[in-house]
Amino acid sequence: MAKYRIAWLPGDGIGKEVLEAARIVLERIKLDAEYIHGDIGWEFWCQEGNPLPDRTIQLLKNTDCALFGAITSKPKEEADAELTPPLRGKGFVYFSPIVKLRQMFNLRTNLRPCKAYPGNPLNYRDKVDLVVFRENTEDLYSGVEFYPLPSEVMSVICKHNERMKKFEKTPLEDIAVSLRIITRKACQNIVRDAFEYARKYNRKSVTVVEKPNVIRETSGLMIREARKIAKEYPEIPLWETNIDAMCMWLLKNPFDYDVLVTSNMFGDIISDLAAQLVGGLGFASSGNIGDDYAVFEPTHGSAPKYSGMNKVNPMATLLSVKLMLDWLGETEKASHLESAIAEVIKEGKVRTYDMGGKSTTTEVAEEVARKL
Ligand code: NAI
Ligand code: MG
Repeated sequence: MAKYRIAWLPGDGIGKEVLEAARIVLERIKLDAEYIHGDIGWEFWCQEGNPLPDRTIQLLKNTDCALFGAITSKPKEEADAELTPPLRGKGFVYFSPIVKLRQMFNLRTNLRPCKAYPGNPLNYRDKVDLVVFRENTEDLYSGVEFYPLPSEVMSVICKHNERMKKFEKTPLEDIAVSLRIITRKACQNIVRDAFEYARKYNRKSVTVVEKPNVIRETSGLMIREARKIAKEYPEIPLWETNIDAMCMWLLKNPFDYDVLVTSNMFGDIISDLAAQLVGGLGFASSGNIGDDYAVFEPTHGSAPKYSGMNKVNPMATLLSVKLMLDWLGETEKASHLESAIAEVIKEGKVRTYDMGGKSTTTEVAEEVARKL
């Protein structure tokens, strides 16, 4: 039996192509693993009314971790229209399978490294080496939303908060409310993960990114917990920066920062910004990490306009494989893979279109495999 069982989730569009690229590299690296295909994505919504079939959930429960490509998702009207006719009008509602996976397996930490590999013509700034820790299950993405606002909810909020009273006369169908839910436990977990990482990899600082001067309760809770946890890591300074200022500083002085930690939505925003400093979607890798399961994925989507063309950059996926190897404890293989990726980028002979080259997805993966 192989040492690891890895769920293989290509999904839609270019998700399939970048996972094939990952396979080339994993085979070369001789990871002692079995890769087991799982159905996920738009195709299964259209055919079965479920983009994350139960058999796939079972598969994940029987594997060590998963490698995920990308999925397609579309707005409500299109989702309903593309559902196979026998299932229409039967109450099937589309949901994002990746968001569901994060919640179902409590993949509470989203790890997104953003590193400028020398020689990448897409680097906005050289020498950037940031790692974003984004809380992955709560905040404005909890999905607790109201529209129109039920009158009971309005009256309860008015009872507990004076400020709501200024909305009391607004018609309920003219108000939408999304709850920003943040728990102490989630704050502690994400901040601890950031500090543990900083300690393990000798990082020079941890910056907590929130907006506690305005969003006093939720951002305030995160900052207060961060200060407490920081005391357990006296060798690593904790910096505090507001999300708006952080966006500016990341463009101005990205090398001043090291590990960033934040809640779900702010993390979504700054990690896209940070990714763009180091080459954009073709380089943005991520891990969704829980206590006993993890899903690794490039952060890009299914890029329908390039689907089937063997054209997109597989580096984001190969870097996600590197994160997976680290998480599995295969640190030597992980570091060889990263060096091979860095070498291919630096040499600049084999490049996909986004880097100004003409090579295919497969050719880039094969070149990385050769360097290994
Ligand atoms: P996208 O990330 O799929 O692509 C946007 C553009 O970025 C592409 O047209 C292409 O120009 C570039 N790009 C993306 N990946 C690239 C790569 N590996 N190499 C080179 N260039 C690359 O985002 P878009 O177009 O907004 O969404 C397409 C579909 O993907 C939608 O259905 C969306 O819902 C879904 N999506 C899925 C995600 C996931 O599976 N985690 C994340 C984001 C979007
Ligand atoms: Mg995003």
